[in-house]
Amino acid sequence: MLNKIFVGTITLFLIQFSFAQDTQRKLDDIIKEWAAPTAFPDHVILSAQVDPSRSIGINWRTHAINSSGSVEIAVAGPGPDFREKSKTYTAKRTLINSSSATKDGFKSSFFEVKVDGLSPNTLYAYRVGNQSFKSEWHQFTTANDQSTPISFLYVGDAQNYILELWSRVIRNAYKKAPNSDFFIHAGDLVNAAHDESEWNEWFAAGGFIHSEIPSIAVPGNHEYRGLNPKKSRSDRKLSLQWNAQFGFPKNGPEELLETCYYLDYPDLRVIALNSNRDIELQAQWLKKVLSENDKKWTVITYHHPVFSASSGRDNSELREHWKPLFEEYKVDLALQGHDHSYARGAIYENPVSVKKEKNSKAVIGPVYVVSVSGGKMYSLSETGWDEFGATQEKTGERKQLFQHISIDGDRLIYQSFTATGALFDRFELFKKNGENLYLD
Ligand SMILES: [Fe+2]
Repeated sequence: MLNKIFVGTITLFLIQFSFAQDTQRKLDDIIKEWAAPTAFPDHVILSAQVDPSRSIGINWRTHAINSSGSVEIAVAGPGPDFREKSKTYTAKRTLINSSSATKDGFKSSFFEVKVDGLSPNTLYAYRVGNQSFKSEWHQFTTANDQSTPISFLYVGDAQNYILELWSRVIRNAYKKAPNSDFFIHAGDLVNAAHDESEWNEWFAAGGFIHSEIPSIAVPGNHEYRGLNPKKSRSDRKLSLQWNAQFGFPKNGPEELLETCYYLDYPDLRVIALNSNRDIELQAQWLKKVLSENDKKWTVITYHHPVFSASSGRDNSELREHWKPLFEEYKVDLALQGHDHSYARGAIYENPVSVKKEKNSKAVIGPVYVVSVSGGKMYSLSETGWDEFGATQEKTGERKQLFQHISIDGDRLIYQSFTATGALFDRFELFKKNGENLYLD
């Protein structure tokens, strides 16, 4: 009798288990189908170029059957007639097969066009595709080639709950500053480097924002994964999609193409570093790029913070090799991610006098920011940055944030907003007699 009950229980368990497995398999199939490339162009994205006043990078994805593609581009006009003056550029195609690296992988065609010879400060319209299937016409404005006020957006890790929760951040960022010159993504855009459904979430969340505001992105640790999904932590490789789906400048070290680079606006040099590897090699490159820099403002972005904001995390190699260069060459802002919390602060030239003064403070090196935009949250470290001689001016936990930074002549205004659009943090930097003064 007991035996019969035992066998019955086991049978019921096995039926329920296989039913649950079937249901999971069906859900996985549906997600994979949702993320699949088709004949129509998707994942259309602009990448900022070394000279953003005259060049733009345009990338997109289709299924692997499409073997050719092109961009049509024209100065935008008030009616549809602008299309008559469009120029066509043939795309470079890269075939990527991510199917063995992740359960949501595909064979896809990625297309890339770098358009040069554009006019500065001009509204262009473009569309991508092939003869049968084309995107809608998107619009973007080239940068000015003369000193002029500019502004940009910056976010930390999107990474988790990308479509569910990050979407409201990037959309609110766009609503707050739709005319931003570019959009910085400071690493960990996704959680599983090669997973096409996560990239599809990132593109679905951003939608046309990715196609109309040029991006600047660096890889985080989550953009590196093993190519065998069962051994994802061994022999990590850069996301298979990275170089194919973005068209960043190729002016960094050969082994770090499109993950370490710089670009120039009339008054601003933006430097993107890859904090996952080759830190010393990048220090040599960085020294040259900073020593030749004649721009009034310098902003650096990379993923792992020089001073960590959350407990149990530290990146001493960056402090050893990069921080001295930031200080020697007076970098203004260091925009970071990784810690899933918020911290902002700097090293003051004279910490003792700062305590007495209420307003402006001279800083050594950049103002450091750690921020997060996706839904994964960590607790702040209680120790702060004092042990490194840095002062935290503002911290935050459990908030999805985006930042808008504007530069006008000698003045930089930084604002951080929550996912609901409320102002969370603000400071100003201004330059006086070769010094950076910091105003809270
Ligand atoms: Fe990270």
